[in-house]
Amino acid sequence: MMLDDPRAIERVDRHDTRRVLTEFPAHCRRAQALQPMPLPAAVRPRLVVVAGMGGSAAGGDLVAACASDTLDVPLLVHRGYGLPAAAGPESLVVALSYSGDTAEVLSAVEVALRRGIPVVAVTAGGALGALAQTHGFPRVTLPAGLMPRMALGYLAFPLLTVLAACGVPAASATDIEDALSVVQDQGEDLGPERPSEKNEAKRLALAIGTRLPVIYGGPLTGAVAYRWKTDLEENAKVLAIAGAVPEMNHNEIEVWGGPGAAGHHAVLLREDAEAVEIAGRFTLLREMLGPHAGGLSEVWARGRGRLARLLSLAALGQWVSYYVAMLQGTDPWPVPMLTEVKRRLATPSDEHRPRP
Ligand code: PA5
Repeated sequence: MMLDDPRAIERVDRHDTRRVLTEFPAHCRRAQALQPMPLPAAVRPRLVVVAGMGGSAAGGDLVAACASDTLDVPLLVHRGYGLPAAAGPESLVVALSYSGDTAEVLSAVEVALRRGIPVVAVTAGGALGALAQTHGFPRVTLPAGLMPRMALGYLAFPLLTVLAACGVPAASATDIEDALSVVQDQGEDLGPERPSEKNEAKRLALAIGTRLPVIYGGPLTGAVAYRWKTDLEENAKVLAIAGAVPEMNHNEIEVWGGPGAAGHHAVLLREDAEAVEIAGRFTLLREMLGPHAGGLSEVWARGRGRLARLLSLAALGQWVSYYVAMLQGTDPWPVPMLTEVKRRLATPSDEHRPRP
């Protein structure tokens, strides 16, 4: 069994991604202790815009999902250039970019500065770090050396700290402590040294095999389903699909009655606390997809608080994508296509230069 053979794993995982994923609980704990410098003004914003892309935006998605039940201030995760028109001087922009060099996030900060919107940066450095220095806005400084998507703990926890400092907490102290202890316990269950028969992530990767993974969450865990998709795409370099109940009942459900369904593997992200209507729809999905799908798996979030439940599902997805990568013989660390896009945009030919 390849996944239980340390030498086979070493041959494929040439950048020791397994060590970084194993350190995820420690990342979360260290990240929880980081503070913005200087401290942001404690002025409660009317709107929070989290500007981020890819792996960094995933931290924003997790926090937004936590906030949606508890926070009376809207929190938007903005993936793109500039800022939405609704963002004004009474808003707060949190610029979330691990590298600090993401063009879309830098453009959001430029617009925020022009509109007089307070900005806080969460970054390891780059041009965003330099902008914070020049303009004197608060910054949480992250340790360098990770791949952005593998720095999820460093992106999510400081965002929670920043929001709490600005009077818009998205998770309670109890929920944060619960999440830290849940990911710690979970980490011990999912690493490469835990054999397949006792390792949920390995078993799931084996069940998915070479089928197209299709991940469905509920109204809140849908954000984590999207994170599974992007982890599978970046780490294992396989296409994946993400969706959420109930919306997918109104469109994507049709695919599962068609001839392609046998080539797909559905993964349902469940949580004990889901509403009875959502639980009912998941039951229906199992009944209706089961006979057609190439495979169907159900996984359950751990912990009591929403943050723990979302983070535990995200951490499971990281490991599943890692083991799918191992089974494909793919090194999960490098992202050569994504890197090439950034390289070409940084040195634009006439064809790629933005039009005036
Ligand atoms: O996982 C990745 O490397 C990407 O999705 C990046 O997160 C994305 O390109 C944005 O970069 P950064 O997170 O450094 O702002």
